[in-house]
Amino acid sequence: MVTGYWIAGEAATSDATFEVRHPYDGSAVATACYATDADVERAVAAAHACRGEFAALPAHARAAALDHVVRRLGERAAEIADLITAENGKPVFWARAEVNRAISTFRWAAEEARRFSGELQRLDTDPGGTGRMALVRRVPRGPVLGIAPFNFPLNLVVHKIAPALAAGVPIVLKPAPKTPLSALVLGEILAETDLPAGSWSIVTTTNEKAAELVADPRLPVVSFTGSGPVGYGIQAAAPHKHVTLELGGNAAAVVCPDWTDLDFAAERIATFAMYQAGQSCISVQRVFAHRDVYDELVARVVKSVEAQGTGDPRDEATRVGPLIDTAAAERVEQWVDEAVEAGARVLTGGVREGSTYAPTVLADVPADAKVSCEEVFGPVLTIAPVDSVDEAFAEVNASRFGLQTGVFTKDLQTAFRASAELEVGGVIVGDVPSFRADQMPYGGVKESGVGREGVRAAMTDLTEERVTVLTGIRL
Ligand code: SIN
Repeated sequence: MVTGYWIAGEAATSDATFEVRHPYDGSAVATACYATDADVERAVAAAHACRGEFAALPAHARAAALDHVVRRLGERAAEIADLITAENGKPVFWARAEVNRAISTFRWAAEEARRFSGELQRLDTDPGGTGRMALVRRVPRGPVLGIAPFNFPLNLVVHKIAPALAAGVPIVLKPAPKTPLSALVLGEILAETDLPAGSWSIVTTTNEKAAELVADPRLPVVSFTGSGPVGYGIQAAAPHKHVTLELGGNAAAVVCPDWTDLDFAAERIATFAMYQAGQSCISVQRVFAHRDVYDELVARVVKSVEAQGTGDPRDEATRVGPLIDTAAAERVEQWVDEAVEAGARVLTGGVREGSTYAPTVLADVPADAKVSCEEVFGPVLTIAPVDSVDEAFAEVNASRFGLQTGVFTKDLQTAFRASAELEVGGVIVGDVPSFRADQMPYGGVKESGVGREGVRAAMTDLTEERVTVLTGIRL
């Protein structure tokens, strides 16, 4: 049985099949297929053709479709969570959390579809504008090409699709080749709605074909989540398009001297350095702890990391499973080995078995080691003492990335300083950088990308302001 793809709201298959394999044991999960060139063309042509009709579709119709998806994702949650675990290797505990987040993302999209209205601006602030008022609406920039990564195979697909549908923007979505299955099940649910045929397609294509889509003028917007080199390649290849990039990071947590609940800080750091085997752009990669709390914190972090249940992601107790494939685990192993050769100490972990890399904590890591300054995207945490909050903030800002930072402090002044001084897209006070509520603006500065996701932020990004000036108005 071959799992097909979705072209303009309808199921399709081809003979160009590929296997989706379980990252933990390599077992076959499903046979999927690449869309034919003709089908990809149909998806793009349909998105282009329906852009006017979809923009004009009443908010209640878009919201009703999104509400339907909320309901059906809830009904199929257990099945979809198991599928995420099978295609991605994410422990089922975290896969369930991802499905719940996807439901929340769609729920927000349904609500925002009803709210998204534009604004009025008075123009009579100077004599020349007397009797005039501007109606500022947001209109779609045009159909969007969404390209999603493997690490949240459902919810990061949903972050492309749900805001687009809410804003009346047709979308052609390319899921990650290793993890297309939960996105394709989402297609089954979308196909149950009355959305216009061309408003959505979920197309399994090769990266080469995706490059053609990036160049296609009928898709004037590209929303990409993934690696920096690919993201910047897209930006360079499509300089005239509106391109949003959600790229990587080497997220830091700062533990300030005023923070007394070290058990909490250690448990949160350990959990969110290792969750999804570190394959999240905001997993904790670097910890800078004030010397006053450093020794106690390190002991607790190591204990918490060692308490993370590892193994088969299908087991309820497993919290850290495999990486997406053995090559990814080998790369992490190589980076840790390089750091150790340069003087780093392994406090726990540091071993690989197939696609699984043991949860690892490193101290004394040189600043130029890859595990410090690149995005590890693996279950590896570096930890270092600092003498002041100033020094910690300088370390955070020394990165070429800037996605989110966690600052463990209860001091209001420090919290505001963090918010003002840290060069990142988000500061989480009193917790790790890995916190993300799906409605909040999410994205980075520096090499972590451009633009923001988060339902409303994405709807704003997918649309542009159109001003209508009304004259002879009594204000
Ligand atoms: C990401 O890896 O960028 C997404 C993180 C999240 O949605 O929690």
